[in-house]
Parts: sequence; structure tokens; C-alpha cells
Amino acid sequence: MKIDKQEFIASLGGPSAVDSMNPEAQADAIEDFMMKRLNEQKFGLALKGLNEPGIALDASGKYPTMAEIEAQIETRDYRRGVGNLFLSHDGNVKKLPAMPASPTLADYFKQRFTFTGNHVLQSANLAMKNGLSEEIILACLLHDTIQELIKVDHGWWSAQLYEPYVSEKVAFAIRYHQALRFYEDKQYGYEYPEIYRMFFGEDYKPEPYIEAAYQMVRNHKWYFETRMVTVNDLYSFEPGVNPQLEEFTDIIGRHFKQPKEGLGFDNSPVAHMWRSIATPDRPL
Ligand SMILES: [Fe+2]
Ligand SMILES: [Fe+2]
Repeated sequence: MKIDKQEFIASLGGPSAVDSMNPEAQADAIEDFMMKRLNEQKFGLALKGLNEPGIALDASGKYPTMAEIEAQIETRDYRRGVGNLFLSHDGNVKKLPAMPASPTLADYFKQRFTFTGNHVLQSANLAMKNGLSEEIILACLLHDTIQELIKVDHGWWSAQLYEPYVSEKVAFAIRYHQALRFYEDKQYGYEYPEIYRMFFGEDYKPEPYIEAAYQMVRNHKWYFETRMVTVNDLYSFEPGVNPQLEEFTDIIGRHFKQPKEGLGFDNSPVAHMWRSIATPDRPL
């Protein structure tokens, strides 16, 4: 691993600060610096993709505890469950392009699913490569897109957003992928995601409603579909693989009931959720 000397020296407080350290302290500092960079390489991209820069990466490579994560709450001017469209961690928010009069799912992907788009396309692409059914591929393609609007309990919110337009099975897999993600299944090669130790704390135990959902899904006829959303849920991005929405046009056409009035204008029980994604700058 290459170290940027200037950056390293600056991180310690400049050349005079480095000069005042004994060789042992300098060696420790180099080790800490490298560990921090390795962690950033490992988690940085995934955290950026999920717009989660607020979690401290410990220089020693240690995961935070729940208490440490809780202690960070009042250090932020936002709450972690806020939707990606509603804040920027990188300067001011940008003006969004206007949506067409009858927006389709593809329009939302192109113009609003900026933070989650790549992640879900990667997941759907992997599910396709793994030869899974079109319904599972669609569930993977949609599973986290609600996080543009809200992140808390995103499985439930996401299933609700899509329920009027997809099969019951697809909505089920989307809803419960959130709970299943916390539980290993060696048969399908699913392990507890390392990044969750960062997000939730190393001592996190799922809440009772998550545990209950898991127990229900484990014995459900659609367990496989739901489990496959978690197995193909990619937090790391394969370099050089840049799946495009067009690769999924046929699957969307066959399994997503696009309303002719446009998403947000079909008077469905979730139309307001689509409108909120389309116009997040409205004050009321
Ligand atoms: Fe998710
Ligand atoms: Fe995901």
C-alpha cells in the first residue's frame, strides 16, 4: 500500500509535530494511518454509496459499539434515518431536474435514485448472472430505492411503495430482506455483513420485531426469494461492471405494472410517496 507522505505528515499536525515524535511513536503513527486507509478502501465506497459518511472509522480497525454510535447522535445536524434526497454531506444540495408529466419507473431511476441506483443495479446484475428468476431480479432492482425518501425500516417502506405495481411475492421479498440481512444462512453462503458492525455497532442484537419477522420468513414458502435478495445484495462494487437500467427493461415490462397516469398521479394509496420523491423541495 502506497502512503502519501504529505498527507501523512499533515494528518499528524505538520513536519514539526513529526520531528517531535520518537521513532517508536512515528512507527505507530504510520501503522494507524495505513490501517485507517485500508478501512476506508474497504468500507469507504460502500459508505459513500449509501450516503453514510457520519460513521467514524476507527484507526485500529475496531468496530464501534452501540454506545459509541449513540454518542454520535448529537454531533450531527441530521438523523441517520433521513432519506438521501433530503440532505447532502458534500456542500449544498443540487437543483433536481424536472420530472416528466407521467413519470415512469425508469424516469425515477434516472432522475431521483441517484444514491441507491448503482447499488441496486449491481445487485440485480448479480442476481441475473446467478440465473435467478425474473421476480427475484426485479426485487433486487427495487429493494433499497426507497432510501432516497427514508432509510429507517426501509424494507417495509420499500415494499409499500412498490406493492400496487408488483406481485405479492416481489413485495414480500423486498419487505423482509431487511430482517433477513441480520441472520446468516450457511446453506446459501450468506454471512452477517461486516459493514453492519459499522452501521449498527459490534454488539448490536436485532430488535424483537426483526427477530419475529425472521422467524416467520424462515418457514415461509417465499423464504428462498427473500433470502436471494440478501445473497445478491452487493455492498462492494465490482470495478469495471456498470450495469445499466436498459438491461432490465424487459423484466420491468413483464413484472412492473406501470400506471398510465404516471407514478405519483394514479391515485393509488402510495401516490403521495412517489410525489414526495419527485418533489422533495416542497416545504409542505
Ligand atoms: Fe436493504
Ligand atoms: Fe441493498
